Amino acid sequence: MAEIIDLAKARYPDLGDRRVVIAGGTGDVGEGIVRAWLKTGAHVVVPSRTESKVERFRQVLSDLGRPERLDFVVGDYTGFEAADAAAERITTDFGAVTDVVASIGGWWQGKPLWEVSQDEWQRYFVAMTTAHMATARAWVPRLPRAGSYQVILGGSAVTPVKDASIISMQQAALLMMRQVLSVEAGDGPRIAAQVLGPVITWARKRYQPDWVSNEEVGLVTAAIAADPGATDKDFVSQDKNEMLKTLQGLNVYPA
Ligand SMILES: NC(=O)c1ccc[n+]([C@@H]2O[C@H](COP(=O)([O-])OP(=O)(O)OC[C@H]3O[C@@H](n4cnc5c(N)ncnc54)[C@H](OP(=O)(O)O)[C@@H]3O)[C@@H](O)[C@H]2O)c1
Repeated sequence: MAEIIDLAKARYPDLGDRRVVIAGGTGDVGEGIVRAWLKTGAHVVVPSRTESKVERFRQVLSDLGRPERLDFVVGDYTGFEAADAAAERITTDFGAVTDVVASIGGWWQGKPLWEVSQDEWQRYFVAMTTAHMATARAWVPRLPRAGSYQVILGGSAVTPVKDASIISMQQAALLMMRQVLSVEAGDGPRIAAQVLGPVITWARKRYQPDWVSNEEVGLVTAAIAADPGATDKDFVSQDKNEMLKTLQGLNVYPA
């Protein structure tokens, strides 16, 4: 049976002295991450490529009113130069950033590997891995040792999904990026990833009760940021049972 996770019982860490950049924060999983960090009292900055996406996202968050500790920065942040310029601008405009969560991406599925077109490859492998690479490249050297750089990934990183070759390869590459960053970050921030099964989000019309929710994913990112020992690790929560263990292991949910 699926575990029930009641976030009213969760212990949100106090991250009032932290500033987080949530890249991909306007997305389906990103929404839960933004909500969780706002609950911690942190200053949340969400970059987005388009004003229209920000407007749509504001509607999704309309139950929160206009949170004082939430800012958006509109402009490209997905190429090497663009990401560096965005990091510079965010740091200048708001002050030093302590944590970054990269929840960039999306899903693609529909045909076997040998039918994948070059356009599909470009869009779902090259563009998305480049956005992650550019974000890591821009931010890891700017973050403090006590801070964190976190990547949100799906189970296709470790288990091949039929007719979703591009995403499976892309997620596997990003999982290795996390491992390489761990080896190379040195005095830089702590590095971690989450590897998730399907996630319940506002955009999902149908879902299974044992899927993890985007707010649970968000709480894990905040808990990782708060825990000095949480580093160089992939937190795997393919379903609610695993998510419960992840949250308890990070001391943000009662045993
Ligand atoms: N949804 C799930 O059920 C699920 C399950 C397991 C893992 N994940 C992982 O969670 C991460 C986020 O997934 P998601 O479902 O939240 O995706 P999503 O709803 O499509 O949102 C991803 C965000 O990434 C940003 N982005 C930057 N560059 C992009 C590009 N080249 N193409 C597309 N989007 C780009 C977009 O923000 P702007 O347009 O505002 O810039 C977009 O809002 C991915 O790594 C995914 O594998 C998702």
